[in-house]
Amino acid sequence: MIRRQALTLVFTVSCLVIASSQLGAQPKPAPELDYAFYKARVEPIFLRKKPAHTRCVVCHSESNNFLKLQPRPQGAKGWTDEQSRQNYEAVSKLVTPGQPMVSRLLMHPLAPEGGGDVFHSGGRQFESTKDPDWKTIAAWVNGATLSGPKKN
Ligand code: HEC
Repeated sequence: MIRRQALTLVFTVSCLVIASSQLGAQPKPAPELDYAFYKARVEPIFLRKKPAHTRCVVCHSESNNFLKLQPRPQGAKGWTDEQSRQNYEAVSKLVTPGQPMVSRLLMHPLAPEGGGDVFHSGGRQFESTKDPDWKTIAAWVNGATLSGPKKN
């Protein structure tokens, strides 16, 4: 009888220990990827010409890798809102919210010396993580909003 009570006690205590350790280990919820910030700050980067580089959109519209941007309407400077939504969906799949340094969108075009991938057919578009465009995308990945404190 005593042995049984002792076993019950051991069981209860271990349950409590496990429960509390899991509470403590709970990761921070991943930030939301804000669409307005994307449209205003991130998407223009795909259209912008960087010195000595081709614009992302030239290679990445209707491309057959995972960064697939919508073809722009003829003569238009940018995308329609519906297309931007589609771009947002596609681009969102290439990032890990809250973790710029494992996000493909940020690592692939980043020079290896700056911590990026070894090779990108589109070149080392970002020399380092100090590049202002790189920082803007990283802020978005970290949940920045247009009114938020992390805006760039
Ligand atoms: C000269 C053409 C070219 C330009 C310009 C270019 N890319 Fe690329 N990019 C490619 C090609 C081709 C691939 C697929 C092969 C590879 O991984 O290198 C690719 C792959 C990628 C990938 C990985 C997609 C996947 O399938 O996982 C990302 C992310 C990316 N590019 C981002 C960018 C960004 C951001 C820019 C602009 C700052 C850019 N690229 C500019 C040609 C280009």
